[in-house]
Amino acid sequence: MAAEQPPSSSSVYATNHTPAVLRTHQWRTASNSAPHLLPHLRPNMTILDVGCGPGTITVDLARNYVPDGSVTGIECVSDPLIAAREHAASQGVKNVEFLVGDVLDLHRFKDGSFDVVHAHQVLQHVSDPVQALREMRRVAKSPGGIISLRESASMTWHPRFPGLDKWYSIYQRVAKARGGNPDPGSHLLRVWVQEAGFDRSKMTSSTGTWCFRTEEERAWWSGVWMERVVSEAFVRGALEAGVCKGKEELEEVREAWREWGMCEGGWFVVEHGEVVCWT
Ligand SMILES: C[S@@+](CC[C@H](N)C(=O)[O-])C[C@H]1O[C@@H](n2cnc3c(N)ncnc32)[C@H](O)[C@@H]1O
Repeated sequence: MAAEQPPSSSSVYATNHTPAVLRTHQWRTASNSAPHLLPHLRPNMTILDVGCGPGTITVDLARNYVPDGSVTGIECVSDPLIAAREHAASQGVKNVEFLVGDVLDLHRFKDGSFDVVHAHQVLQHVSDPVQALREMRRVAKSPGGIISLRESASMTWHPRFPGLDKWYSIYQRVAKARGGNPDPGSHLLRVWVQEAGFDRSKMTSSTGTWCFRTEEERAWWSGVWMERVVSEAFVRGALEAGVCKGKEELEEVREAWREWGMCEGGWFVVEHGEVVCWT
């Protein structure tokens, strides 16, 4: 893989797009990651998916939910778009395109360009989420356009290995040190929406979860995290944030992930806050 371009100044994404990170994102589908949006879609709609990553949600939306419409995925860096374009081509999906762009400045799109503007786990990685929401609203049709948001709210697991408590603390502190807001779906997301001036009478909110509990799910989730916690980006982020003393500490965290993955009866839950707003 070519060296990743530096992210735009507005991105405070605490990781990069290494294979293990991409694998975490490539598991995602419209039904497991955008269930709050699906009932509002019509086959001929146009969708903008901001911060689309490797695009599996984007392609699923295009193929299965708006087959007579189209989906545009944008990303602040080009690297994940290689995988996104390959995925679309491998699925034979033609009504999707991927572009480099920054959610804080969607100048390439005119006002009112899309029926739906969607972001999944993106606002937590942006330096100014309220400005991002204003831009998302600007490019949505008005009236009647939809802004669809989903951000992680909390993570919990069993058994409660101390090594995984340490992982969560490091993960959150690194994100905050970079200027991000880990797990804003619990509360902040709705504050941001209000600050961006959305009409409370024209929005719904809900929660949605991922739960990894079968042997196969545990093996996959622990496997990607065993790789991610000792990846160069994660180690560098933890050292720069001053939240670990060296890679050895993260190797201990990796062992906790291994132990959890093998634990019969173990489970891991990611809870999300979801908001749908109409213009
Ligand atoms: C956690 S990933 C989510 C990817 C995808 N939405 C998904 O759920 O599979 C967050 C993505 O947001 C992108 N991102 C961060 N800041 C951004 C910005 N200012 N504009 C556009 N994309 C951004 C990152 O590069 C990263 O790919």
